[in-house]
Amino acid sequence: MAALSARLAAVLDALPLRPGMRVLELGCGPGALARAIAERVGPEGFVLGVDRSMMAVQAAERQSDAGNLKFRVVNAEGFHLKAGEEPFDLVVAIRVGALDGRHPELEAAALERLRAATVPGASLFIDRGDPLEEIGLHSEPAPAA
Ligand SMILES: C[S@@+](CC[C@H](N)C(=O)[O-])C[C@H]1O[C@@H](n2cnc3c(N)ncnc32)[C@H](O)[C@@H]1O
Repeated sequence: MAALSARLAAVLDALPLRPGMRVLELGCGPGALARAIAERVGPEGFVLGVDRSMMAVQAAERQSDAGNLKFRVVNAEGFHLKAGEEPFDLVVAIRVGALDGRHPELEAAALERLRAATVPGASLFIDRGDPLEEIGLHSEPAPAA
């Protein structure tokens, strides 16, 4: 397996990963980060890499044989859990156009989908910070007065 680039290694180290987590990567491309995350979350964890490009997903699948790692062709803004699929604990998106701040309508659609596909308290980590910005997906309701 090719070594992780320094850029993606910095992302990997910045993610609050724990063994057993279920992680969703949006815009996974050929899957380098997804593979590294799958190693970190271990056999009790699971990683789903999604990309709108079938070619990217096929390339990712060719390079990945871990049992806790799958890929799927889908847009970030159209993502939904399949029947029986458990929600994710953490979402990451690196260099994904729909989430780069220039497309607020796509971003709003993606965040809505992610709220429905993640556990309470889950966050989206995106490369708008140094190296990541954390976006909480489930804001708590204001306490009753
Ligand atoms: C610049 S590449 C980055 C790949 C990988 N995240 C990385 O950092 O190496 C952007 C990837 O995001 C995918 N992508 C762009 N917009 C997307 C969207 N709305 N939904 C899903 N994937 C998307 C592209 O097909 C491409 O594979």
